[in-house]
Amino acid sequence: MTNLATFWNKIAAKYAQDPVLDEAAYNFTCERSISYLRPEFRALEIGCGTGSTALRLRAHVSTFEATDISEALIQIARERQPETAPHEQVGFRVASAPDSFDSGVSYDAIFAHSLLHLIPDPEALLARVALAIPAGGYFISKTPCLGASGMGLQGGAMRLMIPLMQLIGKAPPVIRFFSTEGLEAMITQAGFKVMEAGSFPSGKPPSHYIVARRCS
Ligand SMILES: C[S@@+](CC[C@H](N)C(=O)[O-])C[C@H]1O[C@@H](n2cnc3c(N)ncnc32)[C@H](O)[C@@H]1O
Repeated sequence: MTNLATFWNKIAAKYAQDPVLDEAAYNFTCERSISYLRPEFRALEIGCGTGSTALRLRAHVSTFEATDISEALIQIARERQPETAPHEQVGFRVASAPDSFDSGVSYDAIFAHSLLHLIPDPEALLARVALAIPAGGYFISKTPCLGASGMGLQGGAMRLMIPLMQLIGKAPPVIRFFSTEGLEAMITQAGFKVMEAGSFPSGKPPSHYIVARRCS
């Protein structure tokens, strides 16, 4: 797990300066997510990066915790937090995704944006997420699907290039090649019903947005 944190700590400053790839797609998915939230909800984001999404969604729920494996990114997120009353703030903390949950604590909504493809054992993480969400709660994710149909030559090139980039520390140590269907099936198998899904942006790779509701 240490080299995962090392990679993200090393690129944190540059990552914080990178612009959002597609502002319209990002705004659209934020609005879709907000439509599921309620003022009494307790929310958690795992792999929150610089905290942009958590800070944007904060006002729509009662409490919002946000975790990331990278201390450097959490530091940037804390610095970006506007000065507000403590109970209105996002609770940023350092934790690897599977360690983001305290036993017995549940959330009405858990977010994971651009994270699942970077996790060594996403099935185990989803099982942990499912335990933390009571029936009727939401798991909302967005995941680049590098194994999506339609990736064509670009998909093949990525399969060749990524291991080389990983060798020289220029790509995250873990990258999974999900298809959009495989990703949805994995979330369904963890005990969720997909309420809506779509790729925003739909490019190569598509960034697959999924809102899934915890089954009873
Ligand atoms: C591509 S960035 C996405 C950040 C943010 N969610 C966003 O959409 O802008 C991936 C994030 O996941 C974090 N991350 C990677 N592996 C992780 C893990 N095993 N546990 C927790 N966070 C992790 C990284 O530190 C980084 O902040």
